[in-house]
Amino acid sequence: MRRICVVGTGYVGLTTGTCFAELGNHVTCLDIDSAKIESLRRGEMPIYEPGLAELVLDNQARGRLNFLAERDTAAYNAALAEAEFVFIAVSTPTREGSDRADLRAVRSCAERIAPHLSDGVAIINKSTVPIGAGDWVAAIVDRYKKPESRFAVVSNPEFLREGSALHDFMQPDRVVLGSTNREAAERVAQLYLTLRCRVMVTDLRTAEMIKYASNAFLATSISFINEIAQICERLGADVKEVAAGMGYDKRIAGAFLEAGLGFGGSCFPKDVKALAHMADFSGCHPQLLRAVLDINYDQRSRAVAKLRQALGGLAGKHIGLLGLAFKPNTDDMREAPSIDISRQLLAEGATVAAYDPQAAENARLSIQGIQYRSDPYDVAQDADALVLVTEWREFRALDLRRLRHAMRSAVFFDGRNLYEPEDVRAAGFTYLGIGRGYVPEPFAGDIDQELYLVHEANGAGASAAAAP
Ligand code: UDX
Repeated sequence: MRRICVVGTGYVGLTTGTCFAELGNHVTCLDIDSAKIESLRRGEMPIYEPGLAELVLDNQARGRLNFLAERDTAAYNAALAEAEFVFIAVSTPTREGSDRADLRAVRSCAERIAPHLSDGVAIINKSTVPIGAGDWVAAIVDRYKKPESRFAVVSNPEFLREGSALHDFMQPDRVVLGSTNREAAERVAQLYLTLRCRVMVTDLRTAEMIKYASNAFLATSISFINEIAQICERLGADVKEVAAGMGYDKRIAGAFLEAGLGFGGSCFPKDVKALAHMADFSGCHPQLLRAVLDINYDQRSRAVAKLRQALGGLAGKHIGLLGLAFKPNTDDMREAPSIDISRQLLAEGATVAAYDPQAAENARLSIQGIQYRSDPYDVAQDADALVLVTEWREFRALDLRRLRHAMRSAVFFDGRNLYEPEDVRAAGFTYLGIGRGYVPEPFAGDIDQELYLVHEANGAGASAAAAP
């Protein structure tokens, strides 16, 4: 049984601590927020993550998982004096008014823990930190630690997806460890041994970069397919089929090619911005990363524009939103497309009603001025248009006719391409989707004209008449 301390009981820290306890280690989770610690002790979770509450309770009951508020030396001694491994899992949000990662929490964490560390401890950075932050943490700890105590800093980026974090921890595609101290990295690798996964040991900065580059790559896939979707709409192709056809190519593989309202959450927007900022700062010219962000935010205004066009203006219109969270199976509202979409709709004089199975409480903090309803049919009541924003499972089998009957006018905007356009139309709706262009058969243009001119004559899109 190894002794582990995890500092920060946010999303990453709580999952990491709980899973290490589940693997048989003795884990103490520290947090400066004593109210949060109190509620964790009572078994109340600060976040919604499937399966987490059960695992926390079970490991607490077995005495392998403890929660302590960072109040005094006694707490630090209890958590750190015998810990061989200390994970730093505090938040690193984007700094207000800039694209930089805000490292104040990491700095103060390093300062607070340093005097209490046991000799030979491995300090592991789990938080996503800018490249070079491992060395910086080492310098801070060096300044505040007991003179005689030795330590090593290891980077161990997390690749957990909200909503499937436990699965991702227990069955990772890979574990990445980086350190200037190979022996310390190998020791951390032992913690993951029972997971029987690929463990890559590299240097500190390379490990830090692997996290950013992975997230930037995935975000790029999403913006790529959203750009293709826009072109599909114009030219009458169906992006869902296009992505499926691309995915059969083993080199492409098809994951993260779902066109939609764009990415949100706590990682992709923040990490792409931070990487672009680091690139700028070091004299590079990150054109692709900037475009990835621009395309992503444009998806939101483009959605509002589509509604405006379909409804002949937005003032006085009632819009219903199905889903608010940035993705299903989470109550996380950070950078959720629903925030920008609601704000833009309200700014143009529409009223907005919404339902989300888990995120309504958090949504109230980020979106003001909308009405919260208790189910999709309630949202549809007197609405002019419905927008499916988050692909919750319960939105996959909606009674479209029932929704249609409750509504004042009949626009259904499937922002996640869950439904087949013809099914939505069959229920009496005007269908809007993302990149689901289609051209009525047979060919309606002038065959004596050059194809590009036919497109132009049809208003820049062969499918303009049947715009999705
Ligand atoms: C992500 C990474 O997947 C994870 O490895 C990292 O550690 C943290 O960031 P997460 O933010 O939980 O995880 O969400 P993820 O499931 O990856 O989805 C991110 C966003 O992309 C969501 O808003 C989702 O709706 C969107 N998305 C995803 C698409 O629009 N299309 C896709 O094909 C895939």
